[in-house]
Amino acid sequence: MVINGKLRAAMVAQFKAEFDSALLYMSMRSWFEYNKYSGMAHWMRIQSSEESEHAMKIFEHIMNRGGRVIIPTLAPLKTEWSGTLEIWKEVLAHEQKITASINSLITVADANGDRMSNPFLYRLLEEQIEEEKTAECILDKAEVLSKTDIGLITLDRQLGERMATGSYL
Ligand SMILES: [Fe+2]
Ligand SMILES: [Fe+2]
Repeated sequence: MVINGKLRAAMVAQFKAEFDSALLYMSMRSWFEYNKYSGMAHWMRIQSSEESEHAMKIFEHIMNRGGRVIIPTLAPLKTEWSGTLEIWKEVLAHEQKITASINSLITVADANGDRMSNPFLYRLLEEQIEEEKTAECILDKAEVLSKTDIGLITLDRQLGERMATGSYL
């Protein structure tokens, strides 16, 4: 069944939001790396590539259902932060925003009777449980550990151990 037009438009916007996320996290990676937080930079490298994967899964869903994706222009990027804590706060807020936009995709799908998109959209939504939980967990640690240099080094080392798992979408 060809994808509903309104849902297609909303999913193209989500495709853009995922690439915006990938670039935002790449920008954060650059900040971390430049400021010698190699562990946090490593964490962001994996996060950024997962976001590109999300974008491509959305692209493929639209194309597989006979829709077309007109590639949108990406948003201008933030490049400067006052410190590590500000970045981790922004990561959580960003993921919460993404969750809200996936929620509204499901509302659009329901309103237009596009049930074929449901399994995929619910997988995207489920992925957000992990995304928010991880961001919250890092922010909780960062709030305590960023108060001292040794704390920051500890957090940087922990985040440097992140393994790439790949997206299960
Ligand atoms: Fe994502
Ligand atoms: Fe994400």
